[in-house]
Amino acid sequence: MYHCNITIQKVISKPGILASTKRDLSIFVYMEFFPEDLQAYIEDHTEPESDLLQQINRETHLHVLKPRMLSGHLQGRVLSILSHMIAPKNVLEIGTYTGYAALCLAEGLSHGGKLVTIDNNEELSVRTRKYFAQSGYADQIEMIVGNASSIIPTLNQNWDLVFIDADKENYGNYFDLVIDQLRPGGIIIADNVLWSGKIVDASKKDKDTEALRDFNDKVHMDERVQDVLFPIRDGLMILRKL
Ligand SMILES: C[S@@+](CC[C@H](N)C(=O)[O-])C[C@H]1O[C@@H](n2cnc3c(N)ncnc32)[C@H](O)[C@@H]1O
Repeated sequence: MYHCNITIQKVISKPGILASTKRDLSIFVYMEFFPEDLQAYIEDHTEPESDLLQQINRETHLHVLKPRMLSGHLQGRVLSILSHMIAPKNVLEIGTYTGYAALCLAEGLSHGGKLVTIDNNEELSVRTRKYFAQSGYADQIEMIVGNASSIIPTLNQNWDLVFIDADKENYGNYFDLVIDQLRPGGIIIADNVLWSGKIVDASKKDKDTEALRDFNDKVHMDERVQDVLFPIRDGLMILRKL
């Protein structure tokens, strides 16, 4: 177990995020790499969320299942600053959910740039499209509803930046599908690669944990990319195509 009590306390006390019943607590548990005071200091010294991102964060926690899937304040700002550094023309996100990370990545788009985001959850798409419409990026974001494995091969794009954040079992598959579409120097970011620390717990043999271990090993061995694993939130694997 990894600081479960500390994490629960912290998430409940985070402004704008409410846990309405005791049972809700279980869905907020994820690993924190730093003690609570250091984590608070890090967030205090990180640009705050915009009003819209704060609204998405809050409403997702209040009204949507599995709100821990949302990237959140710190990781969102990391995605934004990386996107600004890359200044991409073409971004692909695999796993939209309520659009939080898509909007963070869109902040760095170069003039006339475009972000395509894919999710197979049609029900959620109404809420997500509403958030995109409220943002200043509505004309630059294309949301596709469907199975990412079927859709990616149909996208005839030269990606500058790809964010992999959908079903963990398919991470290796998504890497294979996007690597040839990624321009040399382009970046792939894959979320949740530490999987709350389960990645190094040999007793955890569930299919998602095994798939993430396979993914991390696969990309680490792949000579087409430079890799660095950032211990941010649940772990971000950053890959640069050589
Ligand atoms: C972790 S959430 C994405 C969070 C979002 N990137 C963010 O940070 O705000 C994962 C999403 O992937 C979607 N998903 C899962 N399997 C998928 C698949 N095969 N094709 C497309 N989307 C999928 C789920 O519906 C879910 O909304």
